Amino acid sequence: MVGSKRTFTDVTDEEAIEFVDIVSDIVALDEYQKMKNYTHHIGYTRYQHCLNVAWYTYLWCKRSGLNYKSATRGAMLHDFYLYDQHKGEQPIPGRHVEVHPMVALANADKYFEVDEIMYDCITHHMFPSTSVRPVTMEGYIVSIADKYCAGLEVGKTGVDYMSPYVKEAIKKITE
Ligand SMILES: [Fe+2]
Ligand SMILES: [Fe+2]
Repeated sequence: MVGSKRTFTDVTDEEAIEFVDIVSDIVALDEYQKMKNYTHHIGYTRYQHCLNVAWYTYLWCKRSGLNYKSATRGAMLHDFYLYDQHKGEQPIPGRHVEVHPMVALANADKYFEVDEIMYDCITHHMFPSTSVRPVTMEGYIVSIADKYCAGLEVGKTGVDYMSPYVKEAIKKITE
């Protein structure tokens, strides 16, 4: 995982084992595997990005006593869209920041059961780039984990580069 020394292959790591169990059916889906064909944040695939966001969501939600299973699944599916917006492939008109969460939700709903927390995590993950706030703590955490991982994926470390909103949220989650 980006920014982490942990892997999913350590059989003594109980959290890694549980995480894999939560996301295994998503990862096994052929359509989801196509996420490996899309670059996301320069040196990462969209598949790896979603794994990164899901991993931090899992850790933060579990340690905060939240519904970490739904949040982790929502995080895995938050960018489940199969097109390159930079090549004009977006299937419906509109701003990318608003369209791709809706496409991800439609894809998630096509293949998996989407509960209210997953819905919130997927549809509101672009906040505050979009105006509608998450309505659950799990949704907030996915939106923060998304920014945190995006920073790490483009090679920025620490939280100094982040907006005050993200910086404050990470402080609250991790202290
Ligand atoms: Fe996104
Ligand atoms: Fe994302």
